[in-house]
Amino acid sequence: MSERFTKSAARNIFYGGSIFFFVAFVGLTAESHWHIVTQSTDTATLTPSVAHGKRVWEKNACIDCHTLLGEGAYFAPELGNVWVRYGGRDDPEIAREGLKAWIRSMPTGIEGRRQMPHFDLSEKELNDLIDFLEWTSRIDTQDWPPNDAG
Ligand code: HEC
Repeated sequence: MSERFTKSAARNIFYGGSIFFFVAFVGLTAESHWHIVTQSTDTATLTPSVAHGKRVWEKNACIDCHTLLGEGAYFAPELGNVWVRYGGRDDPEIAREGLKAWIRSMPTGIEGRRQMPHFDLSEKELNDLIDFLEWTSRIDTQDWPPNDAG
């Protein structure tokens, strides 16, 4: 037994295995990168306002309470599909006005209900933020979250 499994055989398995998995790792990384750049990002509608809306989102730390496609805090509703929940697919104007009115009217002060703070956002910041939420709602999440409430 000890003669059949020699030191050099062990070394070859080690180096061969390492090289094989390293090549597989590099290949899969390149494939993921290619997929992100060419397949999974809707660059055609990635306008400057969407990019600015993302910055407004980050600057105001909405993620401290909300999730976006599951990432973030679980204090407040998921917002990856809030555009769809507000009827944005059927009537974008009403959804936009509804979302703006909601954000502007916070906090509600209703007792026993979780509160969202007031954010002093300009008209442009609000519009760009909503452009960002609309763009996010079009990401193909393979039917996640499984229900509208998110
Ligand atoms: C301190 C926590 C907190 C932060 C920070 C916060 N929110 Fe909220 N948000 C809430 C809570 C709580 C609710 C649900 C309130 C309710 O239902 O009465 C809510 C609800 C919402 C809704 C309505 C969701 C729905 O399904 O009806 C929107 C839209 C929203 N927030 C957007 C934002 C945006 C945009 C930001 C960042 C500018 C933000 N929130 C930051 C706590 C927060």
